[in-house]
Amino acid sequence: MTTNEAPRLRASVYIATSLDGFIARENGDIDWLDAGDASAKDPSEDYGYAAFFRTVDVLVMGRGTYEKVLTFGGWPYGSTPAIVLSSRPLAIPEHLAPSVEASTASPADLVEQLTARGFRHAYVDGGQTIQRFLAAGLIERLIVTRIPILLGAGKPLFGELPSDIRLRHVRTDAFPSGLVQSEYEVLGRS
Ligand SMILES: NC(=O)c1ccc[n+]([C@@H]2O[C@H](COP(=O)([O-])OP(=O)(O)OC[C@H]3O[C@@H](n4cnc5c(N)ncnc54)[C@H](OP(=O)(O)O)[C@@H]3O)[C@@H](O)[C@H]2O)c1
Repeated sequence: MTTNEAPRLRASVYIATSLDGFIARENGDIDWLDAGDASAKDPSEDYGYAAFFRTVDVLVMGRGTYEKVLTFGGWPYGSTPAIVLSSRPLAIPEHLAPSVEASTASPADLVEQLTARGFRHAYVDGGQTIQRFLAAGLIERLIVTRIPILLGAGKPLFGELPSDIRLRHVRTDAFPSGLVQSEYEVLGRS
């Protein structure tokens, strides 16, 4: 790398899973995300989400996640640029057009493009998208919050890999609600 070259975009995952590793039911439902002891939950507790989001300057998500977020009724990411990965034409509502764009790029190409555009830290979201980025060796950090529920089936967070990925455990925090959040640094493939 020459001194003039920008450092490569870093990518992080911040996601919630069932104890058995699913991020959504087969039909995409995430109704179970509020499982846990609601009476023990501090209403102001956000599990570090706002602090994490402040470190992010671009979102990368798969079409599955994008379409789910559109059903929330409000776009939760403000004006932070968002790249939606899909191999098919994507409907982007007019009010989101200033910040949302579609891409068919591979993880490697997308990271190169976003680095060239000056982005420094991506929030990568969606099961298939996270799996693609992990397989390409392009995730630096994982923050996984385990919800105390077993779903038995659904859309998995993790999938097949071309080789093992070694991780360093950074921390694990248990919350009164029963949620358990672990952070890992990705060391590399072996
Ligand atoms: N528990 C949580 O915290 C959490 C977080 C995020 C999402 N979710 C849930 O997870 C579900 C979505 O996850 P998902 O596993 O379906 O994965 P996803 O990554 O959100 O979406 C998968 C789609 O992304 C597209 N895609 C990904 N990489 C691509 C690439 N390089 N080039 C072209 N297209 C690419 C494909 O779209 P095409 O088929 O159009 O090509 C693929 O079908 C939703 O139900 C959402 O609510 C849960």
